[in-house]
Amino acid sequence: MIRICPSILNANFDDLANEIARVAAVSDLLHLDVMDGVFVPNFTFAPDRAVEIINESVMPVDVHLMIDAADHGVEPYLMSSAASVTVHLEACVDPTATLKKIRAAGKMAGLAIKPATSIAAIEPLLEELDMILVMTVEPGFGGQSFMKEMMPKVEAARRYLNERIDRERLLQVDGGINLETIKVARQAGADTFVAGSVVYRADDPAAMVENLRRAAVSVS
Ligand code: DX5
Ligand code: ZN
Repeated sequence: MIRICPSILNANFDDLANEIARVAAVSDLLHLDVMDGVFVPNFTFAPDRAVEIINESVMPVDVHLMIDAADHGVEPYLMSSAASVTVHLEACVDPTATLKKIRAAGKMAGLAIKPATSIAAIEPLLEELDMILVMTVEPGFGGQSFMKEMMPKVEAARRYLNERIDRERLLQVDGGINLETIKVARQAGADTFVAGSVVYRADDPAAMVENLRRAAVSVS
């Protein structure tokens, strides 16, 4: 199953309800990028505001926490209506405990790795997670170019997940996704695609989501 997750990072923050509504009917999850200005050199939302957006969203929200000290920073999101919460491995002291907490709150537990982090670092945590996020740009900003050199990591993650058939786990890519790169990532084994600027800079964001889905399906 292919999932398309529009990121509102490049949407109009002053009109988020409408920006979300524009893609809701054709998208699977809304991707919310929370940046604290410490883990990444950019700031988006304080936890209170992020939780408000999550709870008001008309579609299920996939929260991408680009925050330092994620073991504690995850707390406000556990009580929100988020469908999934993803923390960065690089920001956790105890990733096992943090992933368990997310699961215990009834949410999909996601684990993300930055471009410099090897996929092998994820392997000991496979039983604790519901989604692997392989970053295909350096986290922090939208509109960057897709790093094709991350595809061996996506392929390795796909091999890990194919060995685990007890339940479904998602393999997400985030950064630089467009109508061409989505096919490259799909070919490597990704099934869940974050798309920010390509969607919100399009004249018709919903049509772009549908075109992205078609491009991904054309490879499967
Ligand atoms: C980057 C964020 C992404 C961002 C992607 O740090 O995690 O979710 O919105 O934007 P595009 O699709 O423009 O690369
Ligand atoms: Zn993201």
